[in-house]
Amino acid sequence: MSTHRPTREEAWQLLLANNSNDSLIKHALSVEAVMRHYARSLGQDEEQWGIIGLVHDIDYERWPAEHCRRSPEILAAAGWPEDWIRAVVSHGWGICSDVEPSHVMEKVLYAIDELTGLVKAAALMRPSRSVLDMEPGSVKKKWKDKKFAAGVNRDVVERGAAMLGVTVDQLIAETILGMRTAAKEIDLAGNTNTK
Ligand SMILES: [Fe+2]
Ligand SMILES: [Fe+2]
Repeated sequence: MSTHRPTREEAWQLLLANNSNDSLIKHALSVEAVMRHYARSLGQDEEQWGIIGLVHDIDYERWPAEHCRRSPEILAAAGWPEDWIRAVVSHGWGICSDVEPSHVMEKVLYAIDELTGLVKAAALMRPSRSVLDMEPGSVKKKWKDKKFAAGVNRDVVERGAAMLGVTVDQLIAETILGMRTAAKEIDLAGNTNTK
């Protein structure tokens, strides 16, 4: 069993070695930001939660049909601990993995992964194209409109909220707060965005 503790820089380099698609990298950064936000508010290990969020889809660009099945090889080859790898794989529970989220970190990852996509899509519909001034209500409206960002699996988000014992509304509010902390990096800071 590996006792190596991966650093954020190491995780970032590993992500870039396996991903070149800009929107996938922005998705990774979004999930990292929300995981960090949750870890801080729950008094948990922010570095670990953030790093796992950053690499959770690491195999997806190269092996989309084998998503969650290649990640363990990639991470194990880099000496990552088994519990970190387990957390990565558990986000695909019921879709591409049979590892059920059990640790609270795994449950948060499972719950917010898809939701970051809905928050992003909702932000891009706004005149400001920003999460900085976006309130949960505008995401909630889009949540109910099943045709909007139809690829976002609402059932997964609902299951994740139930696992955590929170409402979808609470999950949306926290996901927005988390994404705000990385608004610039994920191109959702609106007019302050230089891109
Ligand atoms: Fe995934
Ligand atoms: Fe993801």
